[in-house]
Formats: sequence, C-alpha cells, structure tokens
Amino acid sequence: MTVQEKLGQIQQLTWTGDTGPGGGQTEQTEAAARAGLLGSVLNIHGARSSNSLQRIAVEESRLGIPLLFGLDVIHGFWTAFPIPLAQASSFDPEVARLDAEVSAKEARSEGVRWTFSPMMDVTHEPRWGRIAESCGEDPYLSAAFAVAKVQGYQGPADGSELSRTDRIAACAKHFVAYGGAEGGRDYNTVDVSEQRLRNLYLPPFKAAVDAGVATVMAAFNTIGGVPAHGNAHTMNSVLKEEWGFKGFVVSDYTGVEELIAHGFAEDGADAGRLALNSGLDMEMVSTNVADHGEALLSDGQITMERLDDAVTRILQLKFDLGLFDNPYSGESAAVAEPTAAARAASRASAARSMVLLRNEGSVLPLSPAAGSIAVVGPFADSTRLHGTWAGPGASRFPSVGILDAVREAAPGAKVTHAGQDLTLAVAAAAAAEVTVVVVGEDPGLSGEAAVRSDIGLPAGQEELIAAVAATGKPFVVVLVNGRPLVLGDWVDSAPAVLEVWHPGIEAGHAVADVLFGAVAPGGKLPVTFPRAVGQIPLYYNHESTGRPYNPAKPEEKFVSKYLDLADGPRFPFGYGLSYTTFAVSRPQLSRESIARDALERGETVEVSLTVTNTGEQAGDEVVQLYVHDVAAGIAQPVRRLRGFERVTLEPGRSTTVSFRLGAQDLGFWTNDPAGTFIVERGRIDVYTGTSSTTRDCSPLTVV
Ligand code: BGC
Repeated sequence: MTVQEKLGQIQQLTWTGDTGPGGGQTEQTEAAARAGLLGSVLNIHGARSSNSLQRIAVEESRLGIPLLFGLDVIHGFWTAFPIPLAQASSFDPEVARLDAEVSAKEARSEGVRWTFSPMMDVTHEPRWGRIAESCGEDPYLSAAFAVAKVQGYQGPADGSELSRTDRIAACAKHFVAYGGAEGGRDYNTVDVSEQRLRNLYLPPFKAAVDAGVATVMAAFNTIGGVPAHGNAHTMNSVLKEEWGFKGFVVSDYTGVEELIAHGFAEDGADAGRLALNSGLDMEMVSTNVADHGEALLSDGQITMERLDDAVTRILQLKFDLGLFDNPYSGESAAVAEPTAAARAASRASAARSMVLLRNEGSVLPLSPAAGSIAVVGPFADSTRLHGTWAGPGASRFPSVGILDAVREAAPGAKVTHAGQDLTLAVAAAAAAEVTVVVVGEDPGLSGEAAVRSDIGLPAGQEELIAAVAATGKPFVVVLVNGRPLVLGDWVDSAPAVLEVWHPGIEAGHAVADVLFGAVAPGGKLPVTFPRAVGQIPLYYNHESTGRPYNPAKPEEKFVSKYLDLADGPRFPFGYGLSYTTFAVSRPQLSRESIARDALERGETVEVSLTVTNTGEQAGDEVVQLYVHDVAAGIAQPVRRLRGFERVTLEPGRSTTVSFRLGAQDLGFWTNDPAGTFIVERGRIDVYTGTSSTTRDCSPLTVV
C-alpha cells in the first residue's frame, strides 16, 4: 500500500451526509472509494446501495480493498427494541443479547457489517439525554449488559462467527467517562480521579474487551483536561497496553477535528498527530490524519510503524468479517421488515423491562372483563414510542399504540380516549371504571444533544394527573420516558404507577401485557429517581461523607443534607414492585472470613439466600447482592452491586439463589495511573435484598 492508501484506509466518511457538521459527503465518499483512499463508510444501509458503493471500491480501486459499512444500530434495525435504559431495567442481560441478535441479522442483511453499539457509559446524570442509550448508574450492571450485547452482535470472543451472515462487529462506546459530563450538558467537561475512572467508568469497557469487542469509539469529552480523542493514557496505556486490545479505535463524529475547539490542538495537522499518536486508529468524517499524514510522516511527527499498526488493525477486522471473500450482501436475502418472531422478542423484552413503581390497593392488574376503561394523556395513542435512535425501522413501522392495545386486550370493555384536553380527559375518567393516564417524554427529549435542565413531566401533564385524580375514580399512570424523571408529590397518592420507558415497536402490546397481568412486572430501576433537580447528582453508589445524614435524627444541623427537601431519592436504584409479594432470607456466607492470599489465588465466598413468593400470583423478583468495604485506603461506595439474578416463582414456591464473591468483588482500583487493583484486609458488609436500600447484611472479614 502507498502512504496515501494507508491514510485512506484509516479514514471513514459518511454517506448520507445529512446528520452533522461534516454534511454532504456523498460525492467525496464515492470519489475516495474509487481512488482507494477510503476504509469505511457510515450511515449507508440497504443491500443494493451498499453493494453499489462496495463495487466501486472492490472493482475500480487499485487494490480492491472492500469498504467497511458502519451504522448506529442501537436498539434495533427494523425491529425497535426498548431503549437500552429500559433493557437494563429488566436486570436480565438476555434481553440485550436478544436485541443484539435480532439487530445483527436485520442489519447484516441490509449491508451493515459494523454497529456503533453497545453504548456503555455509566452515568450519574439524568439531565443528560444520552442516559437513554446507557444502562444507568452502575458499572457492574452496565458491564453485564455490555457483554451480552457484544456476544449477541458478534458471537464468541474469538471472533470465529464474525463472518456469519447473522453477525456484525460491535463497538464499545464512548471511551471514556462521557457520562460524567458536568451539569449533564452533552459533550461537556469531565474531571475524574484515576480511581473513579477505573472503578466506575472503565469496568464495562474492560468486560467488553474481554468479550472480544471488535472496536472501541473515543468519547467527545475531556478527562482531566485531556480530550478522549487525544488521550494517550486511556487509549494507548489502558486500552491497548494494559488490556491488550487488538481491535481498532474509531473517533466519534468529527471528534478529531474537535481537538481544536477543545483548545488542545492548534490546527488540523496537530489534531491528526495527537489523535494518531494517542492510539486512535480511524477518523470519522473529519479528515485531519488523512489530509496531513504525509507531511506529519516526513516531519517525523508520526511514525510509519504507528500508521501501519492502525491500518493492520482495520484490515484485520475486514478479514475477520469475511469482507475479502464476500464483500457484498445478498440483495434478495434482505430482511425487509420486522418478522413475527422479532416482534414477539421485542414485545417480551419491553414487558420484561417495565418497572412497577406503585400499586396501592391492587389497582393493577386490570381486569380484561372491566366494563369501561378510559385511556388518556398525550401518549395514549402515540405510535412513536420506539425511543431515541431506534434505527431505520422507526420511520417505516409505527409502534403499536397503547390505546389500540388496550382495546385488543379488553375486547368486551368500552374503551374511551382523550388526549391532553383536561375537560375531555376528566369526562372520560369520570365515566370509566378505571383510567390509564399515559404521560412522559417524547422520544426526542432524550438521546444525543437532548439535555433537559428540568426533568419533570412536561407542561400540563401533572395537571392532567391531578384532574383525573380529582374524579375519585381508580387510575393508573403509565410513564413513557427516556430518563429518570423528577415526579411530583402526586406519586404518593396515585393508586398505581408503571414505568414503561420507550418500549419500542411493540410498545402498546407490551404495556397491555403488563397492565392486564398477562406478564407480571419484575423490572427494577437501573437509575435513581431524584426528588428534585437540585439533588443531582444523586446515585446509590456514592461515598459516605464524614457527616452523613441520619434518618433517626432529622433535626441534626451539621450533616450532609438539604434544608428544603426530604433526604434521599424518590425511588432508589434496584427498586421495583410486583403483582405478588416476596420474602427473602438474610444472606448466608459459606465462611465468615477469607485470607487475602486465598482470594488472590482465586478462592471465593459463597453467598446464598432463599426467596419465597408469599403472594397469590406467579411473579418475578430480582435478587441483588451488594458489598460495602467499611474502611478502605480509598473510601468505598456505601453499596456496590456485585450480583443479581431475576427469578420467576409460582405462589408459595421458594428457591435458593447463590452468588460468589472473589477478589474482583472485594477489592478496588487505586489512584495509581499504571493500574493497581488491591484487596485490603478488614470487614466487608455483604448485603442482599430486593433493592439498593436493603439492610439485610452479613459481615465478611478479609484476613
Ligand atoms: C455519536 C455516536 C455515534 C456517531 C455516529 C455521534 O454523534 O456520539 O454515538 O455513533 O455520532 O453516528
């Protein structure tokens, strides 16, 4: 390869060119493909159009190297699954695996070989719109979902299935700490200690790399003043050297160019130099490395060795994907719409992702034999509940409306409807046996560059709930949203509240499945719901202050609290109810102490507990395991999730759930930039229960 061909190979251009600052690249893209000066194209899909662009690269360019087509397939291609935050609420990584498998099949048949997913940014910021794409505030949960998604897209870690026609390459993004954006403002500054980087933000990425993720995407933020796109510590030292990552790192959209706006690079040449030398391998949309690479090489500012390394990593993936043998997609084999099986998978996933926040007096489940049901609110008949970044299917295939699905589920009932008009809604509610009030956020209010400073229900919706409540008739609030919301005090008196997030293409069916009890709700919150915006950031895995708030002494003055707000969240991490009730025993440990060197040799402590369905109906419970190192060289979070299992139990039945705690669970990363993980001697409190506020605890001592 000539130097220009190498520089071209590490360049990605967009096809439609209508989505960002680098817009309108279509002609440039085709010309670059013809000249053999292009490695990858994003935003192209459709077997026919991707094949015709591929033909230019393969048949007309000097070396005939095939292009790699990438697309954001985030929670579905044709078949929109629930948003990733919803999926995390299922506390069942199989949901994410299923989404990835269905997505891979559909996308691959339309020429896509690479998705920019999974997003695995842990975040404590509900104002940040991209929380919808994330798995919330916990690194352990996020890692479990990241692994399931990588496996669902790619197959096994050795890459042996990448060339199959139902597999695509995955991309772990955004590397790293993007979820730490100050004020929740997208793309904003992040300044974290090394220990927080390693204990909070990096674990999902490490897990994804261990699962064989083919690529990693750099993040838009700075980390301690150094933009992620020019960050040699995170890309070179941690990702490539420490973790031995063999795939390639792609920039985010114009992320290399943005090194200039960050105040980190002087000009395009400087940006290209900094990015490549820091470990970035492919530039998306902006063209700084390609434009200045030759001059940088001849000045000795970048090396041929580094350039060859980047090219090799990219070509290796093209070989692994089978692109050299089979660069085209079968045009007749395209899966042109959601299949019945894919819809069923999405519907089951959405129902599994719903979280019952309240159910006083057992309003839910609704009876399919109800005589009359009113379905009101701005999203009652919406067919646009796919969620942010739902793939090309979202514009072709409407989501199932909740109103229609309620009519289907209760064919004998008189089902009436009113939107957000208060008078009509009140009349409908007053005349019905029960009312379903569907409120929340339009999907456009979450996702990239969709940040809100006020995360309450949008204007008029609380008034609607209050007006329905004033009728004195039973009602259920169904929340459709892409982030945790600050819910008003109405929550404390609403008979029932069901969090359904943005449920995907089968939205209405899945909501009706849960409302009428065909599916028992069993999801749990993967994020804290604050009481007020002023409390943010508020998250369960926080450290203790020297003066923690004591609920037994609310009058204490010099403690960490707000004068004007009750302590703690509205709903905590890990919380969620069921239509039945469960009893869980205290955790039993297989031993009370364990030697540090035994842990280092790989020995573990078994933690077990019994969970019993004490109610009248079958249901799901998510048993959760947390640890707290009570005195550590680096103060540890008051709770850290280290295990979870979702179980289904018939009434009266019990099961024993066991977890294993090893060095990974009991130790932590220090502030050593070279990466030191230690397990200290001392007491660790081991908690089990059904939310992060559990008090069931058994002590374990590391000796
Ligand atoms: C987003 C990425 C995405 C890329 C390509 C960027 O704006 O931050 O998550 O993969 O665009 O569409």
